[in-house]
Parts: sequence; structure tokens; C-alpha cells
Amino acid sequence: MQNIHIFDTTLRDGEQSPGVNLNQLEKLEIAKQLERFGVNVMEAGFPASSHGDFEGVRTIARTVRNASIAGLSRATKSDIDTSWEALKEAEAPRLHLFIATSPIHMTYKLKKSPEQVTQLAVDMVRYAKTKFPQIEWSAEDASRSDLDFLVQIIEKVIDAGATVINLPDTVGYATPAEYGRMFRYVKDNVRNIHKAILSAHCHDDLGLAIANSLAAIENGATQVEGTINGIGERAGNAALEEFAVALGIRRDQFPFSTGLNLKEIKRTSDLVRKLTGMPIAPNKAVIGQNAFAHESGIHQDGVLKHPQTYEIINPSMVGIESNELVLGKHSGRHAFKEKIEKLGFSLTEEKSEEAFRQFKSLTDRKKEVTDEDLFTILTDIQTAV
Ligand code: KIV
Ligand code: ZN
Repeated sequence: MQNIHIFDTTLRDGEQSPGVNLNQLEKLEIAKQLERFGVNVMEAGFPASSHGDFEGVRTIARTVRNASIAGLSRATKSDIDTSWEALKEAEAPRLHLFIATSPIHMTYKLKKSPEQVTQLAVDMVRYAKTKFPQIEWSAEDASRSDLDFLVQIIEKVIDAGATVINLPDTVGYATPAEYGRMFRYVKDNVRNIHKAILSAHCHDDLGLAIANSLAAIENGATQVEGTINGIGERAGNAALEEFAVALGIRRDQFPFSTGLNLKEIKRTSDLVRKLTGMPIAPNKAVIGQNAFAHESGIHQDGVLKHPQTYEIINPSMVGIESNELVLGKHSGRHAFKEKIEKLGFSLTEEKSEEAFRQFKSLTDRKKEVTDEDLFTILTDIQTAV
């Protein structure tokens, strides 16, 4: 089975989420948890962006031994030098060098011609190769770039020494079919592509980051980049926990493996939420508070009879103890009886029916009925003569 390398960028692209600012100790704590989670590469930061980030990357490079540590760099010698200083003590240092390749970025942002961008990319990869054993080169805004230009520039940067070629959907614009086609085209047309790993990096502006990442691996990508909880610029990056679970659950469709320890998902997600201060939507896939909660009577009854009626992911797979049956106005007798027993009550059929009637009447006034509410109802009914 094809193994997919997982490149985590929670500490770089993830930290680019508005309002997020991690200090060195917080970064290190997350890095250690990412190591336990089993990512292959972690992008620890952008060393040239600030002194704090430089120190954060250096501390992680010195501490984490079971993952390659990467740092982001623009196509300048001084960024590359700074990254090397931050990363040189890592077990497997990787430079992540990027330059934009789309017409809109080259014309308006870089103010350079395609030939100038190509020359700069090649020169900087060659320069970086004198220091770094691994160079990942990213064609920023690849999904809006001309495919034949991509083929030409990729061939040249691989000749110059790049070992990983990343094709980001920087603005989350691509559809799965388009994104997959780009990988296929590069794989089929770049003469020396066998010398490099192809990598996908998706943003979620149209809610397609996971679908696009899956399309990429079906078309030749063997590295996927993303963040924990999907944090990142604007609508965020591909959520690694979603990607990993999609592979785990739909192996029939996606025969790929990763080295991730899925049982660490909940712990990793909780830590990133706590330290970044970025809340998680209750209905967020895999790690949202409601991801394993059932409210309607029909669903609760089904799950009590066989969990897989309404649950495609076993919560223990991702480090969550159990599912939850939330009592609300759609709940039915089956879940209610289970709850009565869990709370330690044993009622006659008649009293249980009366308790259910009172509970239902309460749900018309309250969205969610708590254990305390139930306790009051049940105690009153149990003691009534
Ligand atoms: O989204 C993007 O294009 C990036 C690059 C810096 C790789 O994050
Ligand atoms: Zn990005």
C-alpha cells in the first residue's frame, strides 16, 4: 500500500491564522505532541519572519528527534541563511523554499517575468543545496498557474537539487478534478519527476481542502500538508485529522497508509485549541463536540441497537472515549431509559412513563436537558406515592 508522508504546518501556516500568536514554549509543546501523533515533517515556523519565530524553530530543531523539521523561506539568500541557522541542529533539516508561479502573483506581487522567476527559483535552490540535505520547493498559487510553465520550472528546480515539489492551492480555488489533473499533468510531463516527491497543500476557502488533498494522492502526490483542526490563513488549511480519518475509514476508495497514530487525534486537537485560542465549531468533522453526539430519537435508538447505523467512525479510533446521547426534544424512550439506568434509578414501567412525559414537556422549554434536570424529575417521581 502506498504510504503518504504527512507534513504538518500547524506551527507555520496554522499560526498565520488571524489572532494566533504562539510563544516558544507553546510551540515546543505542540511540536512534542505532533511527534507523538507521528507526523513525518513539521514546519516549525518561518525563521526570517521574527526573532521569536527563529528561536521557536531552533528550539524545536534541537529537541524533536522523530520528525524532519522544516522552516519556510522566501527566495532570498538571507532568508535561506537564517533558516539554516535555525534548523542546522535538526535530525533531518528541510528548507521549504517558495516563489509564486501564477500570472497574477508574478505580475502584480513579484513584478517579475516568468523567466526571472525561473532564474531566481533555480539560483536559490542551488544556493540552498550547499547547506540543506532536503529542499522542498513550492510553486505558490500553483493551481492558478499555467501548466506548461509549471512543468518547465519544476524540471529546472529538480535539476538544481529540489527533492520535494509542493503544488499549493494557495487560495483554495481549485476543484478536486482540476487539482487532480494538475498532479497528473506534472507527473506525466516533468522529465525528472521520479527524483522528487510530489506534495499537496490545500486551503479551505471553498470547503474543498480535504477533497482536493484526496484527489492529489489519487493522481501521484505522496505527501500531504495540513494543520491540526484545519487552522490557517483565511478559511484555513486541510485539517490533518480529517484527512487521516478519511483514509482510515475509506481504505476501499483510498488504498493509502500514513504513519499517524490516530488515537492521538483528540489530545493533539485539544492542545492546539487550547494554546491557539481558536475555538472549534461544534459540528466540525472528527473533533467537533457534536461529531459523536446523537440527539434524535430515531438515531439514538439505531445507535443503541448497532452503533454503525449512524456512526461511521468509532470514537475510540480518534482517542474519544465514547459517543454521547444528548437528551433533547427529538429524543425517544430508548435513550431516555438508558439514561435513567446510568443515573442509578430503577423505576416501574408506570413511573418511567411519567418521567418520560415530564422530560418531554421540559424539552419544550429547554433546548438541552441536563443530568441535573433529569435527577430532579426522577427523584420527585421515585419518592411520589
Ligand atoms: O498556501 C501556500 O501557498 C503556502 C506556501 C507558502 C507554501 O502556504
Ligand atoms: Zn498555505
